[in-house]
Amino acid sequence: MFYENRLVLPEKKAKVDQQKSDFIKHVGQTSLIPHGLEVAHAKGMYIFDTKGEQYLDLNAGIAVSSMGHSHPNVLEAIKTQSEKYLHTMVYGEHIQAVQVSYAKLLSEQLDESLSSVFYVTSGTEATEGAMKLSRRVTGRYELIACKNAYHGSTLGAESLMSQTWMTQAYRPHLPGIRFIEFNNIESLSAITEKTAGVFIELVQGCAGVQVIEKAFLQALKERCVETGALLIFDEIQTGFGRTGKLFAHQHWNILPDIMLIAKAMGGGMPIGAFVSSKKYMDHFTDDPPLGHINTFGGHPVCVAAAQATLETLLESDLISRVDQKAELLIREISHASIKEIRHKGLMIGVDLADAVMVKKFLHAAKEARLLIDTFLFNETSFRLAPPLIITEEEIKLAGAKITSILNNL
Ligand SMILES: Cc1ncc(COP(=O)(O)O)c(C=O)c1O
Repeated sequence: MFYENRLVLPEKKAKVDQQKSDFIKHVGQTSLIPHGLEVAHAKGMYIFDTKGEQYLDLNAGIAVSSMGHSHPNVLEAIKTQSEKYLHTMVYGEHIQAVQVSYAKLLSEQLDESLSSVFYVTSGTEATEGAMKLSRRVTGRYELIACKNAYHGSTLGAESLMSQTWMTQAYRPHLPGIRFIEFNNIESLSAITEKTAGVFIELVQGCAGVQVIEKAFLQALKERCVETGALLIFDEIQTGFGRTGKLFAHQHWNILPDIMLIAKAMGGGMPIGAFVSSKKYMDHFTDDPPLGHINTFGGHPVCVAAAQATLETLLESDLISRVDQKAELLIREISHASIKEIRHKGLMIGVDLADAVMVKKFLHAAKEARLLIDTFLFNETSFRLAPPLIITEEEIKLAGAKITSILNNL
């Protein structure tokens, strides 16, 4: 399991400083064994701890800090917007220039059928919004997701999760959820005239970077068109250049009816969205209105950060260099102990012999001041998702450290 791969036992170790024990005592925890890095500051490719140690970040907060930590353009945008106004009204009521210009800029990068952006506060909320929208548009209630997918952690989004070890304590979940096998065309027969929406990641992140096959994606699209089910691409992890295109679906030229985004969108600030045609999105506005509402969706400071992020990505060569950087990184880490490497751009899963070896590897990586993470649903792999700004030198440094760790396991 994901958390069993963490070997840091902050509270159980003999010398626990006050900050760590207060962290355990007062900050809600998600596991018994948090990573426990005490962050002092973060800049570019590095996170610095309170002892002054610097860690090369090969994880980017799980595909969030794609432009590196505290990118100057993002900081500037946050400063400029926060000096104008912060929150003024619940989402959707006031016209805020920053929301309008970002939605327009984002739409310009997408097919014209994806022209309406509904702002939310996280990836999970984007999933929730799309679950509701697909039901409103189709008048149906069944939803389909893939086995080993991850679309979020609220009760609705979690209903789309097949991994019962994570979900069974929270039952009952939403009724009418069916699971299909990723990359198995035969399982598409589960999509019927009763299906409201089909959720899918084009590269399954938490399953250890499983890349969709073109024939499966084409058959999925055809099946959705045939049955009238909405096709929903979860681009929360794959978005904003991570796979070598601005959005992963642009590799395959197959369009969703709804696209979910979050994570790297805000350049380190909390924001997400679901994007569809205006025709579909308008279902939320009437009979009944207020189809999805929130207080902080599209917070102007977060949207300003998102705008700076997108503009920087579009103006720079960060996305066009993703493949070249991924190839170099894969070459640099090549080692006899590695069983398989799966990747799409800089979304990389590396298989070792077994889960014990992954545990040992991660422990040694932390000692070597490398930030590398695990996968929720794949215990024999480790995850590399560095910021897209990683340089050739940093790739070589990471490669040298990783191969040295593997030599000594
Ligand atoms: C593919 C995918 N969908 C949804 C989510 C949920 O996003 P958030 O954690 O912002 O709620 C994640 C988060 O890891 C994700 O990777």
